[in-house]
Amino acid sequence: MARESIESFSKQLEYEPQIENADNFKTKDKFVVVGMGGSNLTPGLFQIWKPELDVLIHKDYGLPEGDLKDRLVIVSSYSGKTEEALDAFNVALERKLDMVAITTGGKLLDMAKENNVPHVLMPDIGVHPRFAVGLSLMAMAKAFSEENALKDLKSLAGSFDPADYEEKGKQIAEKLKDKIPVIYSSRTNSPLVYCWKVKFNESAKTPVSYNVFPELNHTEMAGLDSESSKKLLADKLQFIFLKDSDDDDRIQKRFDVTAKLYQDRGFSAEIVEIEGDSKWKKILSSLLTADWASLHLAEMYGVNAEDTSMIEDFKKSII
Ligand code: F6R
Repeated sequence: MARESIESFSKQLEYEPQIENADNFKTKDKFVVVGMGGSNLTPGLFQIWKPELDVLIHKDYGLPEGDLKDRLVIVSSYSGKTEEALDAFNVALERKLDMVAITTGGKLLDMAKENNVPHVLMPDIGVHPRFAVGLSLMAMAKAFSEENALKDLKSLAGSFDPADYEEKGKQIAEKLKDKIPVIYSSRTNSPLVYCWKVKFNESAKTPVSYNVFPELNHTEMAGLDSESSKKLLADKLQFIFLKDSDDDDRIQKRFDVTAKLYQDRGFSAEIVEIEGDSKWKKILSSLLTADWASLHLAEMYGVNAEDTSMIEDFKKSII
């Protein structure tokens, strides 16, 4: 199932999102996106595509403090059942803020209908939210009124083949077997490196750490001591450096120098280039590489990539 979800990813880009109850929809250029886990991965990806996009990303109950009157609140929950997202919806209602909901159904859909709140009803394609990033990108583009993004993404539907990234993903998985992945990117690509973390955590069931340049050169690096018995701790880590030819030259230099420094000290560090001839192509190719890598790692560990029962059990235990 996870394999099919990955293989059929491009179909998600054919989805044409519609805003229901569109008369109440307010087009804005400032946003707050509220949602958890797989339902709040894509706003950051939009910021890679368009760094000036004014979006506050909120992963908590309620809403950010401060005046949000000039912002559109986008409440995103794939299942429509997530406690934090439902809470944010109620707070936005109380504060009489302009809002749009993005969901496949659940309580969020009921609440949106009951309160005449505009909403984008995504098709429930029976996959986990982290595999529905394509649908989420399309729905989010609609809520952001970013017609260019919709056009660009749709145009990739026919030409983007997830299978092209399986071999690369498999090679990464082979490096990661029995290691703790530590994944680095530029600060600009931090939403992408976070997706990598989520996919390894949820599909391969492994702890993962991530960090970004240049901050890690001032902090994290110092924790890698090759001189003492602590070397044994760092030996468990496999560093993956997600390098992007669009990154500032000074940042690219840091990738190379840091990788060499780690390797010289006996740590396992691998540079992985982000491939693609456009921003969206780079984002998608990197996401799909992460999907394949985490699926292959799950298979190597003999775990079910689909299973997220720990998350589900936790959600039940707080009701
Ligand atoms: C990702 C996943 C979780 C959920 C999160 C929120 O595959 O299963 O990260 O996305 O628990 O749930 P939803 O997305 O239904 O609001």
